[in-house]
Amino acid sequence: MEFEQVAGHAAELIHSLPKGERIRIISHCDADGIASAAIMAISLARAGYRFHVSIKKTGPGITDGIGENELAIFCDIGSTNLEELNNLKCRVILCDHHMIKGELTNGINLNARIYNMDGSREVCGATATLALSLAMDEKNIDLAQLAIVGAIGDKQDKGGFTGYNKKVLEMAIEKGFIEMKEETTFSPDKSLMDSLEECIEPYFSNFSGGGAVRFLQEIGIDPLKKFTDLEEAEAKKLLSGLALKLVEQGAEEFALTRIAPYGQNYGNLYDISSKLNACAREGEEGVGIAACFNDKDAMKKAEELQSRYREKIRHEMRELEKEKVEELSHISYFHTKKSSLGGVLAGLAMLYLPNFNKEKAVVSISGGDKKVDISGRGTERLVSKGLDLAEGMYVAASAVGGGGGGHPIAAGATIPPGKEKEFLEKLDAVLAEKMRGEK
Ligand code: C5P
Ligand code: ZN
Repeated sequence: MEFEQVAGHAAELIHSLPKGERIRIISHCDADGIASAAIMAISLARAGYRFHVSIKKTGPGITDGIGENELAIFCDIGSTNLEELNNLKCRVILCDHHMIKGELTNGINLNARIYNMDGSREVCGATATLALSLAMDEKNIDLAQLAIVGAIGDKQDKGGFTGYNKKVLEMAIEKGFIEMKEETTFSPDKSLMDSLEECIEPYFSNFSGGGAVRFLQEIGIDPLKKFTDLEEAEAKKLLSGLALKLVEQGAEEFALTRIAPYGQNYGNLYDISSKLNACAREGEEGVGIAACFNDKDAMKKAEELQSRYREKIRHEMRELEKEKVEELSHISYFHTKKSSLGGVLAGLAMLYLPNFNKEKAVVSISGGDKKVDISGRGTERLVSKGLDLAEGMYVAASAVGGGGGGHPIAAGATIPPGKEKEFLEKLDAVLAEKMRGEK
């Protein structure tokens, strides 16, 4: 059966419940998960239902507290914990795009992967959830703004939106809810010097402590000017100088200008995605959900969280830049105390830090007393050479009594303390085998 047809069945299940009924939404603790939860919550509220949102991390316990008579809608989470979902006494709808382990025997499975769509590129949790929302009422197309926020959060904008994400974007543009506008990496209201020093995506190595000023002076550009103050020739010189610097850092994929989607109700959707991500990482998911409901105070709080979070990332990146990186044959790895930053640091190191080998996936390890969090990140090029971090994390974590999964390009795991070495060796071996097979 087709994806959208099954979404129709899920919508029928929701509509079969009496109005005013409370429906559980369980979603993932990241920007895509928050956007998914908000899409579902707003759609249910519009249809006359009450809702209760729980934002969780992937792993055991995602079904805790769900009662017998409820309908539970899992968004952007659950596909690696189907056993737990199958044990629920209530009805289940699953809107997801993560790797699936087993079969959902207890409800309607809208995981895009089982409908021959690429869950890593073409559909995210939020666009899968939007499919259900649209099946409930096609007027919900305004929520495509949040669906695109989710896709950006999961980096599915890289190389342009494709598949179902693209379809959603095109529908929203046609209806006037999203508009595409060109923008640059530089903050419109900051000096070039501050803008470059604070920039994370792309990340410029050695730009702290006056490095950005020196770079600008060397190419003859006034560090105090804003990007919009530059003559055309100066702007070109700056962009090519920065591109060259990124290439020298070993970066293979980067953008200094881009065409960004702007939402009628939310403004720059890249920015909203970054705010939701900060809310998730700072443990303030509720603020993120409220911001999606367009609560002005929540949006302001999300902005504060965003700047605090970015500051932390910059600080850790400055440290990582200086680090001597440890390597196995197919991975580079580093330890970080900040488990909430592990994934983003691994991703930025993989793309932009010259001291990380671009032929190896990057893995972060953050140890706690009770569990160790692992994040892994690769590049499109490594994935095309056979890299599959989702499989690697799953197999290696299972081998040491933990759990893991995700996507070929970005995956994570949680393992027991003391098992790090064994885990890394197993992960390296699985990746080596996969990548050899593709050569
Ligand atoms: O935590 P991190 O951002 O590195 O997670 C990357 C991906 O791996 C996410 O899609 C997440 O759902 C998945 N993951 C998982 N199991 C874990 C940790 C992460 O499936 N224990
Ligand atoms: Zn997702």
